[in-house]
Amino acid sequence: MNASQGSQARPGRRSVVAAVGAVGVTAALTACGGSQDTGGSDTVRPAGSGDGANGDGAVLAKTSDIPEGGGMVFADEGVVVTQPTPGTFKAFSSKCTHQGCAVKGVADGVIKCPCHNSTFDATTGEATGGPATVPLPEKPIRVENGAITLA
Ligand code: FES
Repeated sequence: MNASQGSQARPGRRSVVAAVGAVGVTAALTACGGSQDTGGSDTVRPAGSGDGANGDGAVLAKTSDIPEGGGMVFADEGVVVTQPTPGTFKAFSSKCTHQGCAVKGVADGVIKCPCHNSTFDATTGEATGGPATVPLPEKPIRVENGAITLA
């Protein structure tokens, strides 16, 4: 009847059933994780390299993971990280400012939204083409010891 009975030498039947149930729920949630809209581009990668938390020091990637002149979209964190010039890393919201699609793909200094073909400058986040006119909001990141984390 109460949870503290689990501290006795022999766990009650209910606490064993509850523990198995919790594991089952965790396994089910884990199995479903990362299935968000990430298809269509090899530069979109769900989270998994960090601790699963959004922000507060979650490691997004190694600096070597981000191609020069390109970038990578982190769907779970809602962030696109770019490397517009060697050794310079920038991060922006990956939510397109036109109608909210997730941007996908960064190449040649341009972040692209697949929904209506808006383009954004990978250095500044400024809208450079398509229907979007508002820049992608910049996201604070830290780059330390070859790792990029959300600040
Ligand atoms: S939602 Fe991105 S261009 Fe329309």
